[in-house]
Amino acid sequence: MTDAIASAWEKLANHPGKTLKELFQDEGRVDDFSGRIELPEGGILFDWSKTHLDADLVAGFEDLAEAAGFAEARAKLLGGEIVNPTEGRAAEHTAQRGVGKEASVEEASALHQRMKILVEAIHEGALGEVKHLIHVGIGGSALGPALAVDALTRDLALVDVHVVSNIDGCALEEAFNACDPATTMIAVASKTFTTIETMTNAESALRWLSENGVHDPYGRVVALTAYPEKAVEWGVDETRILPFNEGVGGRYSIWSSIGFPIALAIGWEDFAAFLEGAAAVDRHFRDTDGAANLCLRAAFADQYYTRIKGCQTRACFAYDERLALLPDYLQQLEMESNGKSVTAAGEPVSGPTAPITWGGVGTDAQHAVFQLLHQGTNLVPVDFIASIAPGDALDPAHHRILLMNCFAQGAALMAGKQSDDPARCYPGDRPSATILCDDLGAPELGALIAFHEHRTFANAVLMGINPFDQFGVELGKEIAKQIEAGGTSFDASTEALLEKAGLGN
Ligand code: F6P
Repeated sequence: MTDAIASAWEKLANHPGKTLKELFQDEGRVDDFSGRIELPEGGILFDWSKTHLDADLVAGFEDLAEAAGFAEARAKLLGGEIVNPTEGRAAEHTAQRGVGKEASVEEASALHQRMKILVEAIHEGALGEVKHLIHVGIGGSALGPALAVDALTRDLALVDVHVVSNIDGCALEEAFNACDPATTMIAVASKTFTTIETMTNAESALRWLSENGVHDPYGRVVALTAYPEKAVEWGVDETRILPFNEGVGGRYSIWSSIGFPIALAIGWEDFAAFLEGAAAVDRHFRDTDGAANLCLRAAFADQYYTRIKGCQTRACFAYDERLALLPDYLQQLEMESNGKSVTAAGEPVSGPTAPITWGGVGTDAQHAVFQLLHQGTNLVPVDFIASIAPGDALDPAHHRILLMNCFAQGAALMAGKQSDDPARCYPGDRPSATILCDDLGAPELGALIAFHEHRTFANAVLMGINPFDQFGVELGKEIAKQIEAGGTSFDASTEALLEKAGLGN
């Protein structure tokens, strides 16, 4: 850590801090700590006023960002330079949205064109009647498609998509039960095209097709991968392989051909709008400096709570049923990116890294876990996400009550309440941020995801870590392979479990 970084952290740690109540004495606070990102139609408000950021903290974090080389790191990210040193790679997800190194943007656009042609050909019946798509993938190859399809096809799905990730056969059987093999296509989504869960599920899906009267099951497969040669080897026809650049990380790949099931379900025009919503955030992130950069400002608050206040978790509650899968998506994005113990230079980190991301959907969560948020001993910074326009066509009372509850929770966490009865005391002064979309469609979803990607990146830069590798997931995979191969002995507990389950050597 450089002296400048160490001194910036020291200054931040010594900041006396004020309560939210004190901070709200300032009449300009809401305006000062809120900002909007405009989208082609409407936009999104990011209200960080109910966090403990104040002008001094912001100035301190801006010094930290400067000392940590934030502007240079951002330029490297968006310029397609190597930002993933352990794997010697760039991270080119923004190029998928048209913002990044020119050659990468052009390549992404050409690959999107190819995907568009296939999507439209399927819609037009060129591959026969296609009513269902079973999308097999895991992690970044599944969470994004699952979220977006769930969020954006409530009213209409052009093709009925089932995302299957788990190796547990129950997951695939559930999809089989919902699909007619005669009108089902299979998407095999795997950046590496080697992931055991995905390849096993893909083989079982093909077997299911062939056992149910489909003569050419491989003819019903679309492969989404950064390694097309492996898909060819596996038996997929080149015309149905949609490649993407190796520099697009798995958890950042929703914008690439991994988004194929989304485009198939919502249509190309809406998929393009999804990319455009993300691009609007990219431009804001690229062109805005200091705390006016809303992704960076969010990272300032994240760092404050994690590193200065010692918060071990951060929660996200979507007050919108359509975003029910967003917390799952953010878990991978944030925890797989920033759950690290060494810096990008391989030194031990100087403080905690990613908090545990968790959350759920409001108002359900209020009746389950909010007790802890209001009165528990853990301080949990919370994000609330909602849309002003409703997603339903029922009595407007539904949406009114939903939004009122969302805003009431933020107000209650902040205000607290005193009582003579200790059990009925609410300490208050608990932070939250509110992300309020004018509406929730494809552009807003794209923007929300891109906002979190850049927030995650900004956090990584402030901590000096590499958010683009994930070696932590490898050891368990290796040991699973050793178990499968047999002949290796493990600890006594593992041996006993293997023996009990009939998997012993
Ligand atoms: O095991 C973790 C991981 O590599 C994730 O980073 C990735 O999103 C997921 O597995 C799936 O990988 P693939 O797309 O290569 O099948």
